[in-house]
Amino acid sequence: MTSSTPVLEAIEALVSSQANTDRVLDETIRLLKENYAHYTWVGIYLVEGNELVLRSYLGKPSPYVRIPIGKGICGAAVAERRTLNIPDVKADSRYLACSLETRSEIVVPIQLDGKVIGEIDIDGDAPSAFRRSDEELLGAVAGLLATRF
Ligand code: SME
Repeated sequence: MTSSTPVLEAIEALVSSQANTDRVLDETIRLLKENYAHYTWVGIYLVEGNELVLRSYLGKPSPYVRIPIGKGICGAAVAERRTLNIPDVKADSRYLACSLETRSEIVVPIQLDGKVIGEIDIDGDAPSAFRRSDEELLGAVAGLLATRF
């Protein structure tokens, strides 16, 4: 059970509003980035064929605008259909580095009818930046976003 937070409530209002999906994704990223100081880079990738395509983000530009399913932490989360919370990216051989400062990463799949259609990807500059509460919050956000597809 995720206890509701003002941010989750704002995202819930957004997804049930008339706003188009691009705006819903952009605003969701903004709400997450602005309200959680340990979220250094926040992005949403969507599955297109055998690739993840970066649809919206806040933070430094990433060289990984397209990631094959199965590559990187991002691709692994899709292949494994589960949240990957990586406390130390330098210790994970799958990691694709997009910033030298990044120490930890969390990737939460967006699933619709049992299929992964995209994911929320967040980088943190501190080691072990993401806790169970982040997994729960982002899982709830992914569930809300899924209703837009
Ligand atoms: N680190 C990711 C690549 C994307 S950047 O973090 C924005 C990965 O290993 O899949």
